[in-house]
Amino acid sequence: MNRTSVSSPANIALIKYWGMRDAQNTLPNNASLSMTLSRCVSLCTLAPLANGTTDEILWKTSRGALVPADPALRAGIEHHLQALREHFDHWQPLRIATTNSFPTGAGIASSAAGFSALTTAFALYRGHSLTHPALSDLTRLSGSGSAARSVTGGFVQWPGNARLLSGPALQIAPARHWPLHDLIAVVDARHKTVSSRQGHLLANSSEFYPTRLTLLPDRLEQVRRAILERDFTRLADAVEREAVELHLIAMTSQPPVFYWRPATLAVLEQVRQLRREGLDVCATLDAGPNVHVLCTPQHSPKVFAALRKLPDIQRWILDRAGDGPRRLEQHLY
Ligand code: PMV
Repeated sequence: MNRTSVSSPANIALIKYWGMRDAQNTLPNNASLSMTLSRCVSLCTLAPLANGTTDEILWKTSRGALVPADPALRAGIEHHLQALREHFDHWQPLRIATTNSFPTGAGIASSAAGFSALTTAFALYRGHSLTHPALSDLTRLSGSGSAARSVTGGFVQWPGNARLLSGPALQIAPARHWPLHDLIAVVDARHKTVSSRQGHLLANSSEFYPTRLTLLPDRLEQVRRAILERDFTRLADAVEREAVELHLIAMTSQPPVFYWRPATLAVLEQVRQLRREGLDVCATLDAGPNVHVLCTPQHSPKVFAALRKLPDIQRWILDRAGDGPRRLEQHLY
């Protein structure tokens, strides 16, 4: 069987993409910047179905069973396959299996990792490489803009041209440039009730959104410089303001969207306290209640020792900066 398998990472946005100027083509209102993760990954195996007439789409459970994908996952994959088929002009039915190493739909970028995995697996299957220039733009057509950042490892800006808001994702620095840790507090692993897509569409209804857009160019530059100069103080300041602002927009949208839980706030408070005590640590969140605690590798053991004492955290995922997708020789089926 001609199987192609890849592992693709999730990413955590340091400058958030929130709101679209073109929902049909998933074009953002602002440039975003993320750190690629290393342990939160989606796996995808894809092979042609010799005698099939329709695609077979499977989910691998945490117990290792292959089951038919639920209707929402199937619809998302079928929608994106249409774009991939048109681009690569390849129409044969496929058998696709996928799974995640982390909670799905809980604000840990599972759609970014998943669509990046599907796109790169399809490109490899059609004989292209992991550096194929169309990968980022193709991945965006899945409807998950943040997925465009997952096909490029390290610290990534999307769109590459922040002024014109166009072009593929661009690597600002590889992961080894600054191997930050990301301690993820899973406060609630359940699937969120308001999707990122709905949140993007509501962003404009917040009266604070126009102000946010005027603040972002300087903040993006602050984060970009902090990364290039490995300046944690500068990074922490911008990243925490950015995280709170994303949720300010969500909470003031009409209707409002509240992703935080009490334990979310407890982690944020503890992180600020640890920073006051001199540790290199800051926190950010995507569209969900779970907190990404970023810290330098030197301070990570002390940070984790303090945070793990907090109650009401379901699970900790200890992740770090990582590189982009890679081909796997082990397959899901
Ligand atoms: O790519 P989407 O549609 O899942 O939206 C991502 C939204 C945030 O995670 C909140 C921010 C981001 O830039 O990743």
